[in-house]
Amino acid sequence: MDERVIKFRETADFILSRMDAAPEIGIVLGSGLGTLADSIENQRVIPYAGIPNFANTTAAGHKGNLIAGMLGGKKVLAMQGRFHYYEGYRMEQVTFPIRVMATLGVKTLFVSNAAGGVNPAFRVGDLMVIRDHINLLPNPLIGKNIDEMGARFPDMTRPYDPAMIELVEKIATAQHIELRKGVYLAGTGPTYETPAEYAYFGKMGADAVGMSTTPEVIVARHSNIRVFGMSVITNEAHSFSDTFVNNHKDVIAAADKAAKTMSALFRLMIEQL
Ligand code: HPA
Repeated sequence: MDERVIKFRETADFILSRMDAAPEIGIVLGSGLGTLADSIENQRVIPYAGIPNFANTTAAGHKGNLIAGMLGGKKVLAMQGRFHYYEGYRMEQVTFPIRVMATLGVKTLFVSNAAGGVNPAFRVGDLMVIRDHINLLPNPLIGKNIDEMGARFPDMTRPYDPAMIELVEKIATAQHIELRKGVYLAGTGPTYETPAEYAYFGKMGADAVGMSTTPEVIVARHSNIRVFGMSVITNEAHSFSDTFVNNHKDVIAAADKAAKTMSALFRLMIEQL
């Protein structure tokens, strides 16, 4: 057996020993979006620091905990804080928790992030359903394929589950929540982009730009987990005044404001899955 699979199992067993039952649904909470964890019932908090084979989060605005419990009547396992490539982690470390979720039997993954809106119609605080992505990070599947998890050449025609997109649109209409829908592009960071780079990404077909998510989605799809993704637009990356600067504090504050609505949508979706 592939040695990596033994590690996934070891970590999965550790997490399972701290839960009541195996999770069906995984959730990755992005920058400033960790508050969804507050609405998880009967929760168990498992700090990353004590989990075998896990790396530690360092980015400001990111907590480093797994939160296990119930949401929308289903067993969930949420990551409060993720591992970013810009922090210096290897792609294997960035995506390790997703492999562990797959090993635990997770069938559905919700991913979220803070992102810059390059679509000129987007405003700070908008929620964007991710319908597709452009991955400009190294592909996390580079290297010997883990045959136990999935195929060497996985299909990426529909990385974001069309039925789940339909479901969120139905819920949002009923709740009078306005949603955007678009393409998420992931770069390495940690710099925010230059105005020329934002414009270039827009021309490539991106609606929003961030520094995460695509590695987790690629690995989830490799493991045949269905994926739903949402970006919170935290800055308008399409029109720059002479005095404008991007900064992390404003990004976190904008994400925090939108977190409640995103959490409500995730819960309603989970109820109906
Ligand atoms: N670029 C990259 N990552 C981001 C941005 C951005 O403009 N905003 C929030 N995360």
